[in-house]
Amino acid sequence: MDENKLQKLLQEMTLQEKIEQLVQLDSSFFDNDGVCTGPVEKFAMTEEQPYRVGSLLGVRGAAKIIDLQDRMMALQPHHIPALFMLDVIHGYQTIFPVPIAIGSSFNPELAEQVTAVAAREASAAGVQVTFSPMIDLVRDSRWGRCMEATGEDPWLNARMAEHMVRGFQGDNMARKGKMASCIKHFAAYGAVQAGRDYNVTELSEHTLLEDYLVSYRAAVKAGAAMVMTAFNTIDRKPCTTNRRLLRDILREDMGFDGVVISDFSALRETIVFGTSRDHADAARQGIVAGCDIEMMSECYLHHLEELIRTGEVSETMVDEAVMRILRLKNALGLFENPYKDASVEDEKRLIFCEEHQALSRSVAEECIVLLKNDGLLPLSDKQKIVVAGALAQDREITGSWALFADWNQTITMRKGIETLYPQADVTFFPSDNVTEDMLAAARTADVVILALGENQRSTGESQSKADISLSKEHTAMFEAVYAVNPRIVTVLFGGRPLAVPELAAKTSALVEAWLPGSCGCYALADILFGRVNPSGRLSMSMPYCTGQLPISYGANLTGRPKPEKDGFFAFTSNYLDAPNEPLYPFGYGLSYGEVSYSPVTLDSYILQKDGQITACVTMENRCELPVKEAVQLYLRDMHGSVIRPERELKGLQKVSLQPGESRQVTFVITEDMLRFYDADMHYVSEPGAFRLWIGHDSLTENSVDFILA
Ligand code: BGC
Repeated sequence: MDENKLQKLLQEMTLQEKIEQLVQLDSSFFDNDGVCTGPVEKFAMTEEQPYRVGSLLGVRGAAKIIDLQDRMMALQPHHIPALFMLDVIHGYQTIFPVPIAIGSSFNPELAEQVTAVAAREASAAGVQVTFSPMIDLVRDSRWGRCMEATGEDPWLNARMAEHMVRGFQGDNMARKGKMASCIKHFAAYGAVQAGRDYNVTELSEHTLLEDYLVSYRAAVKAGAAMVMTAFNTIDRKPCTTNRRLLRDILREDMGFDGVVISDFSALRETIVFGTSRDHADAARQGIVAGCDIEMMSECYLHHLEELIRTGEVSETMVDEAVMRILRLKNALGLFENPYKDASVEDEKRLIFCEEHQALSRSVAEECIVLLKNDGLLPLSDKQKIVVAGALAQDREITGSWALFADWNQTITMRKGIETLYPQADVTFFPSDNVTEDMLAAARTADVVILALGENQRSTGESQSKADISLSKEHTAMFEAVYAVNPRIVTVLFGGRPLAVPELAAKTSALVEAWLPGSCGCYALADILFGRVNPSGRLSMSMPYCTGQLPISYGANLTGRPKPEKDGFFAFTSNYLDAPNEPLYPFGYGLSYGEVSYSPVTLDSYILQKDGQITACVTMENRCELPVKEAVQLYLRDMHGSVIRPERELKGLQKVSLQPGESRQVTFVITEDMLRFYDADMHYVSEPGAFRLWIGHDSLTENSVDFILA
């Protein structure tokens, strides 16, 4: 349909019809046969009204969506197709590692493959829009939802975000196997105070623009079709009614022209926040702020008409919101084919097919991070191995948004090892009870592998924690085993970096497996036994203790930095009882063996404002295995009119190297990479001295200085 036809359709619609387009209900309104049995009284709706709303959330399955679309279009006065939206976060039924793990692959192209497969499966099941990716910046692992983000770094998040959007949408989301992507949660949800979900945020304008909004800018530029508002406040105003955020920053400044949707009942909740007097006031503030669709609350439905009649809201505002929704339906091709890709046959053919399972496994190979290795890894199948801990046989390591997956198909750590290494001498004690049998076996084992951490029930929405140490039970288990045999490999599962300083000091090897998805434990087994060389890098710093939070690698400077020696220094910026540094920083991760780096060279030490310089290193894979090396480029502005971070990631290449292979890697540096918000909030670069590092992680000292003319 062309724009004129869409405009004509809008003109023909009654105000009531237009308002219904702005309403989204969830699947609780319909039974399995598509009959409305839901909470219509609670929403003061007629039985017919749920069929006339513009979009539904949480309905899935080709047959169901085809049927419901028919019913809805029949009752919709202009037979406008509904949009079907769902949280397809780290896969639909083939589940990939959780996003914090995907971030740890340091491989944005891989993230694009993940979302492309998720889109192929979900679109066959009739879903047209995904509430994904979540591109919130996360620096506080008390917040349970850090698992849904790709990490703490603005630049890495931005690359992940744009690739994930592209994987879902492709060049044309009407194409088969593609869907619209709704980025969330706008904005700074990851900065909720003290890591407590749904809380307020307190951010400087600099931090908001320079850290938290970078991924949004990139995802909008990549063409994300929708944006979801966040539950939190910014500048004391809930995001869903925050006009400056939604209109001035998102639409005016970032140029977003797609659909904005509230989070689940977030518009109604502004009444609880105390910033809206009642439902009518919430409706007025929501539409004025620029929130187009109200998810699962009824303020628009019951109050917009009256607000327009009394002149408090102009009908033009409603028209603009409806047009954006109609344009999205059109971009998905729904006016020509309202079922989009819903196909029972394709569902059978594509969902959890072998190709997708293989990708789930190979993605996990790059997401698992080796944090410590005193030489105990990789294992050999000649060793006597004991594996202990309930997580070794827990299917609830699939991931918190694996809602539609069949968990029975999840490969557990035990299944991964037994299937791929049947010849290995492994005894399993898949329990968190420290039994005499287990200790006796551990005492005589060559290696004990402990599966510790958290399963998916401890992370995700509303799973905040005030203490992110390892549980008492798991600490006791580690200590009991350590007392009989210190040759321990600890595998940590979970969706948040935990604080494990004592364990890390004692264990011989430490592996962060995250929540690895449907087939990720095959990858885990291959890493443990050395068939795959680990290549993941932490996408979020692993703190030393809860009290350090929030923490990130590139912290801003202080006037009294702690001297670079250990110990306590009076009147400097440090803690009495903990180091300043995280246990393992962002970007950190080991492989089996070393990749060496030559000193960085530059083709010029002076960067002209409109020019470029090239930085170069030569790497050599000294491991006995092939490796995928995440080569990281960091920059620092040595002097600024406002304080500048100690270092910032500004470039990344994931390079495959065969054993013994050398490769030259180059990065081009241009002036725009050096920009920041100055004291007057202008986005500029300032001439002067800069430092550049290229290396294996954010601790690298392989640096060179240059000047911006
Ligand atoms: C979450 C969103 C999600 C929505 C719909 C909310 O509770 O915050 O991330 O997309 O529910 O399921």
